[in-house]
Amino acid sequence: RKRIGILTSGGDCAGLNAVIRAVTRCAVDVHGWEVLGICRATQGLMSRPPQVMRLEPHKVDPILMMGGTILGTTNKGDPFAFSMPDGSVRDRSPEIIEGYHLLDLDALIGIGGDGSLAILRKLAQQGGIKLVGIPKTIDNDVGITERSIGFDTAVNIATEAIDRLHFTAASHDRVMIVEVMGRDAGHIALNAGIAGGAHIILIPEIAYKIENVCRYVKKRQAQGLDYSIVVVSEAVCTEAGETIEQTKSLGECRLGGIGQYLADRIAKGTGAETRVTVLGHTQRGGIASPLDRILASSFGVAAVELIAEGKYDHIVTWQNRQIISVPIAQAIQNYRVVDPEDTLVKTARGLGICLGD
Ligand code: F6P
Repeated sequence: RKRIGILTSGGDCAGLNAVIRAVTRCAVDVHGWEVLGICRATQGLMSRPPQVMRLEPHKVDPILMMGGTILGTTNKGDPFAFSMPDGSVRDRSPEIIEGYHLLDLDALIGIGGDGSLAILRKLAQQGGIKLVGIPKTIDNDVGITERSIGFDTAVNIATEAIDRLHFTAASHDRVMIVEVMGRDAGHIALNAGIAGGAHIILIPEIAYKIENVCRYVKKRQAQGLDYSIVVVSEAVCTEAGETIEQTKSLGECRLGGIGQYLADRIAKGTGAETRVTVLGHTQRGGIASPLDRILASSFGVAAVELIAEGKYDHIVTWQNRQIISVPIAQAIQNYRVVDPEDTLVKTARGLGICLGD
C-alpha cells in the first residue's frame, strides 16, 4: 500500500481541484493507496509538522468543477533562495526535503507551470523525492504539452468578456481594449481574440505599429463601423519596445498597463472614444471548463499510473489526444510562445484581423 503526496504550486487556475479529485479517486479507490494533500505547496513541507490533509474520494468528489485549489498554493519564489520576513535570504530546500521524508511518502505528484516544475525537480534530485509532474498554467507556455490545465477555462472567460464588450462597443461607438494575461506568451489573446471576434489582436510575439492599428480603426469608421474591439496581451510593449514597467518609471504612462497606453494612443490617432477592461485574475478563477475537467482528470489518472509503474521524474503531457509521459527535464527546457507562423496566426490574418504589423 503506497502513500503518495500531492501539491499545487505557482499561480492557481481552473482545473486544479479536478486533478486533486482524479488523483485521489484513482489512487484510493482503484489502487487502495493513501493520498496526502500538501498545503500551500512547498510551504506545507517546510512547516513542522508538515501541513497536510488526508484526501478521501467522498471528500473530493464535489470539487470537480471548483476553481482555485483546496490545497492552497504559493508563488513566493525560490525555496533555494527564500526571502525571510526579516529580509534575509535562506536556502530552505533541506527543510522541504526533510518534510517529504517525515511524511514517509512513496512518491509526490507536483502540479505546476515551468517555474514550479523546475524547482520541484531540483528538490527531487537533491532529496531523493520520487516526483511525477502535471502541467498547469493559463498561459499555455509549457511547450512539451499541447494543452496545460487552466488554459481552456481562461480562454473561455476572456472570450465571454469580449462577447459582452461587443454590445457596449457598438452601442457607444467606442474602441474597447481588453487586456488579457498570458505572461510573455500571446496564446490567450490569440485564441480568445479569434473566438470573440476581436478586430485587432496584439501579442508580444508580433511587433506592432500604432499607426497600423489606428489606420485599421479608421478604415472601419469609414465603413460606418464606429466601434472596434482590441485584445492585447499583458506583455505587449509600447511601440518603442519598452515594457509598461519601464514606461511607468519614465512617467510616460501613469494610468495602468499596456491596455491604457493603447487606449490613449488610439484615442489620439483616431478621435475615437476608448475604454479599457483589464481581465486580470478573473481568468484564473471560476468554474473549470469541460475540456479542463477532462484534461485534469486524464492527467490525474495518468500521473497515478506512472507511480504504479515506478516511472518517476516524468511529466504527463497531452499530444494529439494522447497522454504521453516525458522527462520533466525536457518539459522545463521547452518554453512556448506563439510562433508567428502558427496556424492561428494565419487564421487571424485570413479573417482580416489586424495584428498591428
Ligand atoms: O502565470 C499565470 C499568470 O496568471 C500570468 O498570466 C500572470 O502574468 C501572472 O500569473 C500573475 O501573477 P500573480 O498572481 O502573482 O499576480
